[in-house]
Amino acid sequence: MRNILFLFLFILSCTLISSITPDNSGSSEKLTPAELAGKKIYTEGIGSSDVKITANMSGVKVPATVMKCINCHKADGTGNPEGGISPSNVTWAYLTRSYGGKRISGEKYPAYTEQTLRKVITTGIDPAGNKLHNAMPTYNMTREDLNNLVAYMKVLGKAGDVGLTKSTIVIGIALNSEQNQPNSKNEAIKKMVQAYCNTVNENGGIYNRTLKPSFFSTSEQFEEKKYFMVTGFGEKEILGENNTTPSLFLCSNELTGSGLNNRNAFYVYPSLTAQNQALVDFSKENELLKKKGEVTIVYTNDNDRKAFAKTLSNYYLAKNNVLPTLLALDSDNIQELALTKQIHSNSLVFYVGSTQLGNQFLKELDNIGKTPYILTSGSISGVDLFNMPKAFQKKVFISYPTWITERSSASIRLYQSLNRENKLLSNWKNSQLNIMSMLMTLEECLKRVGSDLTQDKLIGSFEGLYEFSTGLAPPVTYNLNKRAGSSSVYIASFDPIANQLKLVSTINCSEK
Ligand code: HEC
Repeated sequence: MRNILFLFLFILSCTLISSITPDNSGSSEKLTPAELAGKKIYTEGIGSSDVKITANMSGVKVPATVMKCINCHKADGTGNPEGGISPSNVTWAYLTRSYGGKRISGEKYPAYTEQTLRKVITTGIDPAGNKLHNAMPTYNMTREDLNNLVAYMKVLGKAGDVGLTKSTIVIGIALNSEQNQPNSKNEAIKKMVQAYCNTVNENGGIYNRTLKPSFFSTSEQFEEKKYFMVTGFGEKEILGENNTTPSLFLCSNELTGSGLNNRNAFYVYPSLTAQNQALVDFSKENELLKKKGEVTIVYTNDNDRKAFAKTLSNYYLAKNNVLPTLLALDSDNIQELALTKQIHSNSLVFYVGSTQLGNQFLKELDNIGKTPYILTSGSISGVDLFNMPKAFQKKVFISYPTWITERSSASIRLYQSLNRENKLLSNWKNSQLNIMSMLMTLEECLKRVGSDLTQDKLIGSFEGLYEFSTGLAPPVTYNLNKRAGSSSVYIASFDPIANQLKLVSTINCSEK
């Protein structure tokens, strides 16, 4: 009984939602007769034969006109994750993704084909033979109706019309909303985005469409429906596994998103994990570090860094057959940790933690006359190289995803002219250059698609970039299996004579 009531509420909630969801399924003029007939089934439950389509739910037979696909799977096929059971994303791109999918029960299934799609609609059995949850009705319809429905489902949601009109392309720009984040940073980014988009638009836009930036904060629930594509910044990856909006961000943080496995998400730099692991590769190739004895990983005990420390430890083990000692650092145990016997002047310490604690830790080590080699990733950790004890000056190595030599004078001149004409803010220049570089990449990909733009084609266009350079970041290459554009991690140390950082090595980390 409870079950049936629940199903009823579920169907009701789907219906309510579908009635307020705008139709994003693309303009009908472009559809073939078969697709149009399929659309009528999907959106109205009406087929083209005299035999009415029926839906069967938990043994109850009803006309399909009251069990329309659109009620549960939405107009664009992305499904409706509200409520207990979530109606699947049924867009063709999603159903046929090469690695298949997973049921709520955890059972995996391979990518759909037209044949298995017909089967699941009529029998509720997926390509692996799993029975779907009974919240998905099974349907009785003629072969012709079924073919039409499948024809429509192949174009459903692919229209790419989200955030796209004949004259505009809406780009969502993610801005960080961390409490401690100074607002001036977001202001600097916004000004740069406006300036860049204005320049593109004044020069005729992209095949007569203008770029329309739309800013949102990463603390808001991300609304996929609004943007043709997204870029920007964020502590957390905003794209979950089911997201279909093409996106370009700086680097993947596998801990909070779907990592490099989301077909729609592209990154400029290697993932945070790779930036960390490059330090291990560096320690193996560097003459100074090669033969060092004991290895520890010192991490500050917040969730993310703890997880990074753990993966780093596994990576070290895989590469060296030695398991490093993991030590958790907090403001109360700095002295105690510095005294640990595995840490001495000839040992390696991988540091995964905040800059502040890192500096205190180095001072404490210095006080007791220990100067181990320190390796740390500038993207998730840090030590202040300009204010560290002298004894450490030649013993600290930091990894970065880019280096000053990747900047070309032409691109810097472009920045300067944007600056002159738009009075950009003078601070947060690195962030300004990063967003500028991402916008240049997006512009290039959009131009390569041409006037017949769709989200799917934009993704294909990304996948065609080979050693593409904006002159502001390392060149990027994407293909079917590569979502991190650059594979280079730069290892730097402090040069006390020049009082600046110097490049020691470039590590090639080939991620998928
Ligand atoms: C009352 C809500 C509801 C209606 C109406 C509905 N579905 Fe579903 N559908 C679901 C739910 C819930 C699931 C997920 C079931 C599961 O994961 O076990 C699902 C799953 C699917 C799947 C399987 C995708 C996968 O992940 O394996 C396809 C394909 C599908 N529906 C197509 C359709 C079509 C086509 C129609 C209309 C002819 C339709 N659905 C009508 C709720 C519905």
